[in-house]
Amino acid sequence: MSETPAQASAYQTDALIAQDIDAYLLKHQHKSLLRFITCGSVDDGKSTLIGRLLYDSKMIFEDQLAALEADSKRVGTQGQNIDFALLVDGLAAEREQGITIDVAYRFFATDKRKFIVADTPGHEQYTRNMVTGASTADLAVILIDARKGVLTQTRRHSYLASLIGIRHIVLAVNKMDLIGYDQAKYDAIVADYAKFAEGIGIAAFTPMPISGFMGDNITTKSPNMPWYPGVPLISFLETVALDATGEDEKFRLPVQWVNRPNLDFRGFSGLIASGAIKPGDAVRVLPSGKTSTVTRIVTLEGDLPQAVAGQSVTLCFADEIDCSRGDVIAAAEAPVQVADQFEATMVWMADEALVPGRPYWLKLGTQTVTATVQPPKYQVNVNTLEHMAAKTLELNAIGVVNFATDRPMPFEPYAQNRTLGGFILIDKLTNATVGAGMIHFSLRRAQNVHWQALDISRETHAGLKNQKPAVLWFTGLSGAGKSTIANLVEKKLVRMNRHTFLLDGDNVRHGLNKDLGFTQADRIENIRRVGEVAKLMTDAGLIVITAFISPFRAERQMVREMMNAGEFIEIHIDTPLADAEARDVKGLYKKARAGELKNFTGIDSPYEPPAAPEIHIDTTRMTPEQAAEMIVEMLVP
Ligand code: ADX
Repeated sequence: MSETPAQASAYQTDALIAQDIDAYLLKHQHKSLLRFITCGSVDDGKSTLIGRLLYDSKMIFEDQLAALEADSKRVGTQGQNIDFALLVDGLAAEREQGITIDVAYRFFATDKRKFIVADTPGHEQYTRNMVTGASTADLAVILIDARKGVLTQTRRHSYLASLIGIRHIVLAVNKMDLIGYDQAKYDAIVADYAKFAEGIGIAAFTPMPISGFMGDNITTKSPNMPWYPGVPLISFLETVALDATGEDEKFRLPVQWVNRPNLDFRGFSGLIASGAIKPGDAVRVLPSGKTSTVTRIVTLEGDLPQAVAGQSVTLCFADEIDCSRGDVIAAAEAPVQVADQFEATMVWMADEALVPGRPYWLKLGTQTVTATVQPPKYQVNVNTLEHMAAKTLELNAIGVVNFATDRPMPFEPYAQNRTLGGFILIDKLTNATVGAGMIHFSLRRAQNVHWQALDISRETHAGLKNQKPAVLWFTGLSGAGKSTIANLVEKKLVRMNRHTFLLDGDNVRHGLNKDLGFTQADRIENIRRVGEVAKLMTDAGLIVITAFISPFRAERQMVREMMNAGEFIEIHIDTPLADAEARDVKGLYKKARAGELKNFTGIDSPYEPPAAPEIHIDTTRMTPEQAAEMIVEMLVP
């Protein structure tokens, strides 16, 4: 293999590492850094291309090279040649399945610039990783297999790249060797892509005919395509204009942790998301809005006279103001916004569809809050860019939604600040990341509703009744005996002079919730409303008893979190389905089995039993009267 210019200079770099590591590091320190992502469908040749870039820039060590040569002969797909893909496809699972399954970050450098490339997967179901890898990227290389042209994946990735705010797009039409370096075919693909790109607001992109495998137009201009007027890929990556460092942007630091080693020191640590700071600058902490002045910028290397975006620092203030993890420290004269209701674009990334109304963890910057998402306003068809009606978002769907958080959250629109405007959603039960979003703006209706301070507190209400408020939350199958036992419990409590109120599923569905049916979404809304009512009643000092199937763990957990600690008592009325069905007091099981009643719990709609209820009642072992007695005994010992 003859040496390319990039390789030759890379060899020199390599030699420098060996001779003088300090000189090497110094040389690289002053180079600019380009972060980019590669995306494409399975088999578009991403891994081969990245392997080629690493190889040609000589960022492979001798032992890796030897292993690569051996592996290429053993499991490679390229005969006696080096299979560059093997260099990148480090994950065993990937080698076995032949697909890229996770984001892998690679570092390489040339004489002109340093690069971090996030190799993002092309397999349809891994859109998530593209979103993760892309959020800090300056540029995206969208790979197209010249034999296949523009695919749905190409469109989806391009659309995501533009949503995420990536400014530079390289359209790399790969495997040109396999179509005989045909200019007409290349031009047709570029024209096809241009039409789509214009529709999603990609103002400009740089098309390039390449072959990652053969090395055409990678480090040098390919003699096989003299008709191509542009520069090779590496030259483009080395010279594309980078955005300014953002030093003149407004100062924002999401607080990661409060550094308090002893009583004499209190500092707030985190990564500066944008702007610059120096001692003496006035800052404002959000959401509290409290202000102070920076006294010191502390780092491991000593105090700094100034710090800028991208640096991790600890700030000390002149005043003892409250500031904790998740808060944002901002320039005093230009604070970030604070809100608890938003509009955002969301990308759904889980097999299980979005459940509107269900609480998820939401992570934004260093904050973690609970959020509920409303049914989408619309979903975007990534092929046609049409807005489609949608009740939820399925795997890989992109849509626009409103969502609410359980507390005010400092933020900025994503278009202004990726760190403070981008978020992920996490399933509370499985801890899996299920969605990613970009905030457009906060909803004005939230901005205009404030909390009104009331003089009569919940403690006063409860004190007058001489009791501690609580919610006795009965859950179980239809016909399990929830209402019967709840009714007996209430009678006993009233006899003991307790002030109670019983909310019963069937009754509430005749009034407050008569607009709701039994779909998953309606049941969630049913429980949300009942939770809110129960909450108000505890504020009024009552002991609230509720009898609802409440089949989903997530919503019971949501209501639990709405209440004060210790006030939510979950009571599982546990009856085998066969028993409930045999009794069939209302004749509903019979109808459900006959197919006359849809979404019936236990038949064609799930019941998720509580994992750790405060009280568990096995109805096969006691009468309702005994159950009620036992419950009251446990509550009022
Ligand atoms: S929940 O699932 O939303 O919590 P809820 O407790 O309010 O249900 O209402 C359940 C009652 O509605 C049942 O006891 C039964 O009488 C009636 N019902 C009517 N249709 C259904 C159905 N498809 N599934 C369950 N219960 C139903």
